[in-house]
Amino acid sequence: MYDLIVIGAGPGGYVAAIRAAQLGLKVACVEGRGSLGGTCLNVGCIPSKALLTSSGKYAELSHLASHGIAVEGASLDLAAMMARKDKVVGDLTKGIAFLFKKNGVDHIDGWANIIAPGKVQVGDTVHEAKNILIATGSEATPLPGVIIDEECILSSTGALSLKTVPAHLVVIGAGVIGLELGQVWARLGAKVTVVEYLDRILPGIDGEIAKLAQRALSKRGLKFQLGRAVKSVEAGEGGLAVTVERVGKDTIDTIEADKVLVAIGRRPVIRDLGLEALSVDVNDRGFITVDDHFQTSVPGIYAIGDCVPGPMLAHKAEEDGVACVEGLAGLPGHVDYGKVPGVVYTDPEVASVGVTEEALKEAGANYISGKFTFMANSRARSTGETDGAVKVLASPDGVLLGAHICGAHGGDLIAELVLAMVKGATLSEVAATCHAHPSMAEAVKEACLDALGSAIHA
Ligand code: NAI
Repeated sequence: MYDLIVIGAGPGGYVAAIRAAQLGLKVACVEGRGSLGGTCLNVGCIPSKALLTSSGKYAELSHLASHGIAVEGASLDLAAMMARKDKVVGDLTKGIAFLFKKNGVDHIDGWANIIAPGKVQVGDTVHEAKNILIATGSEATPLPGVIIDEECILSSTGALSLKTVPAHLVVIGAGVIGLELGQVWARLGAKVTVVEYLDRILPGIDGEIAKLAQRALSKRGLKFQLGRAVKSVEAGEGGLAVTVERVGKDTIDTIEADKVLVAIGRRPVIRDLGLEALSVDVNDRGFITVDDHFQTSVPGIYAIGDCVPGPMLAHKAEEDGVACVEGLAGLPGHVDYGKVPGVVYTDPEVASVGVTEEALKEAGANYISGKFTFMANSRARSTGETDGAVKVLASPDGVLLGAHICGAHGGDLIAELVLAMVKGATLSEVAATCHAHPSMAEAVKEACLDALGSAIHA
């Protein structure tokens, strides 16, 4: 009898399993994929970051002339780039197997079915546990009528493993996945057109920062068609025909492409788990509903990560998992969802935490804001990474409410502002903190000073 069986070994599940074992619980983690790490490690965050890095190095070669460096004869070995990505993934998934062994977590290989509270069937074996934690994650939302074959019509999984560079990749959806993978293939030589339903990219991100990102990504070769809904994708002569409708108008256009990436969001994976028979409550969008302790409507069955409401982010799933098992072990586990950062790993990066200006306006809130562009930051000028800005939002008395960055290393810079928000810091406190010179982080300090009306370099 286990204290806890975790179903799913993604960042939510495997971290929860390890933390529970550290707290003295007898834990097993069931995973049917054949390797640990879930979508994030196998076909998500990690392989995409490996390809973003490799493609970024390739793209940089054509911009070295301004540094006085001439590069001749550079060529792309896509198979070697993919092999490197696969090795990064393989090493990290094996690392989790090592951590399971080190912490005494049993790995049960197979797909789990909850046959009753406390009973999990995997193959012919029924495993018993005091508590069950569902961490089954999410999968790409399909576009009705468009069948993903992972050869020509791709989800993110197929787009991470193409064998040749497409001539024209049409990306449906200007969200995180569409922009990251669109940029990978644009850098490697594809023409990339991003078709987005809304009249802006990156829904949910502060609008001003999203505009800066769109401008920078356009400069780097991505073509955007905003305010357009993809209606169908058909195999045509010599490729695919993508039918696009202008939102609010009757106009229909056709775009020809050789590959299409469907990146219109993700949905929770909860089928074949036995949840219906157990009457586990699920909301109208298919997410498992949980209470403040991550318990589902059935006592002893818990759920975390992408399969419950909230941002679909690996680090949020980890936080859920740790808080959930700490609660099971009698500790006060808690996640502050208002301070979960989000990062888009494009060039430039887009990073954000807390509220957007749109949300503050909609709520009729009083607030102050400050902004500092990287063009005025000396480190950015020396490296040539001048696109973008840091924007901060605060209450009238200066308490940080949100921070948004478009710029090189934005994903690292945001950490300071997340910590500031967690500690309830004010703009003055961040601004009074000594920031190294020359550093991109000085833009954070200057944005806070700007909100206080005293930026030095603006
Ligand atoms: P998303 O929800 O970020 O963006 C999807 C976009 O598709 C939206 O802008 C939507 O308006 C558009 N869209 C929907 N239907 C359309 C249609 N028929 N025609 C044109 N546009 C249409 O979804 P995405 O990029 O698939 O990402 C899914 C999840 O994965 C997100 O929750 C994201 O946070 C997470 N993720 C996070 C990453 C990171 O943290 N770096 C990386 C990759 C994914």
